[in-house]
Amino acid sequence: MVSAFIDHRLDGVIRVISIIKRNSLQPLYCVYCNAKEVCKTVHTDVQIHEDHFGFPFHVSDVICKGKHMQNATHVLISTKDSDNNVTEYLPIKNRVQLNTFKYDFTVCISTLFGNYNNVLQFAQAIEMYKLLGVQHVVIYKTSCGPDLEKLLKHYETEGMMEIVSWPIEQFLNPSSGWNFQQHKGDVHYYGQLATLNECIYRHMYQSKYVLLNDIDEIIMPYKHDNLSSLMKYLESAHPRESVFIFESHVFPKTQFEESGKFKRAEWKNIPGVNIMEHIYREPNPKNTYNPTKMIVNPRNVLQTSVHSSLKNYGYFHRVEFHVSRMIHVREPMEVNLTKEELFVDKRIWDFEQKLIPNVDRALKLSGL
Ligand SMILES: *[C@@H]1O[C@H](CO)[C@@H](O)[C@H](O)[C@H]1NC(C)=O
Ligand SMILES: *[C@@H]1O[C@H](CO)[C@@H](O)[C@H](O)[C@H]1NC(C)=O
Ligand SMILES: *[C@@H]1O[C@H](CO)[C@@H](O)[C@H](O)[C@H]1NC(C)=O
Ligand SMILES: *[C@@H]1O[C@H](CO)[C@@H](O)[C@H](O)[C@H]1NC(C)=O
Repeated sequence: MVSAFIDHRLDGVIRVISIIKRNSLQPLYCVYCNAKEVCKTVHTDVQIHEDHFGFPFHVSDVICKGKHMQNATHVLISTKDSDNNVTEYLPIKNRVQLNTFKYDFTVCISTLFGNYNNVLQFAQAIEMYKLLGVQHVVIYKTSCGPDLEKLLKHYETEGMMEIVSWPIEQFLNPSSGWNFQQHKGDVHYYGQLATLNECIYRHMYQSKYVLLNDIDEIIMPYKHDNLSSLMKYLESAHPRESVFIFESHVFPKTQFEESGKFKRAEWKNIPGVNIMEHIYREPNPKNTYNPTKMIVNPRNVLQTSVHSSLKNYGYFHRVEFHVSRMIHVREPMEVNLTKEELFVDKRIWDFEQKLIPNVDRALKLSGL
């Protein structure tokens, strides 16, 4: 059991986001209780998401339908319909449906694990999101490196970041890859699919929009100053769409801009990639799958995958390249391309006047 939510779109059923072993399905029961510890037990409908990539364990929705659910405050899933000897109830969230939201834009960073310590790129990405109008970033954290830990503390104290503890290693042997045949393990990519779905439901009544992307990816408006203007434009042009899909574009971290003007002394001892130096973009090969990412209205999504939504109300819209696309600074994908075969794309430099002092400030306040 990961998290439980009332789903107001489905007559107020309780949805328990869970991770289930696909080949060991058995009848599951839902025990839900109100504040006075009056409990009821009901049958459940188990929906294993389709995008399991062969892994034995996968994110699932356990749907509990019964009477008086609106008064339930906590819930658990059981394999028995009576004599439960389980005491670990989950609190039920989203009990109240809201129409105004604390945030306009929330970024969900689905998994942070290993000794990840790419501090400079992390700080640059967060400060870039802020300039674009993001007020809230959620990180599902299994582990990270010592310097990044300091930066996370800073952003948490400052209030823009919420760190959700994600100790998946204590329960399963998570894979660091996406495909069971190749990478093995119990569950896809540190349980990313559970965290992405959890993040959507967690923000259903907190955030107007949710961005589902990785920390090394920035969904960048190219025609607008910020995400707010971008979404205003997209929603008026595409009123029936609720899931907006953005193409990924690789900016190889092995190709540096020539002037060297962003090799700043202040950043010399900060571990990680300096995205300001990487302005060369790979051409996207034709007929190759593009690992797109999304901005969604969470109230219209039932189940999500990584690159697109699995079940939602409304339509998809794939955002045009010239309107907005994703800047993904990473290892090259097309390793043999020379600089001359790459495109120069300096969009990130448009923000340098604010971005640089803001990054400096964040690093300083983090004690880095
Ligand atoms: C649910 O809670 C409300 C408010 O506390 C109360 O008026 C109502 O009678 C309760 N309903 C049930 C079925 O317990
Ligand atoms: C309930 O679980 C506890 C701890 O696992 C165990 O000691 C106890 O015997 C169990 N009780 C019943 C009635 O099964
Ligand atoms: C977004 O850009 C528009 C147009 O430049 C501006 O009016 C608005 O204040 C900006 N919003 C935010 C949140 O920065
Ligand atoms: C890159 O070049 C090397 C050496 O010429 C070649 O072996 C390799 O297959 C090329 N890789 C790609 C992805 O084209």
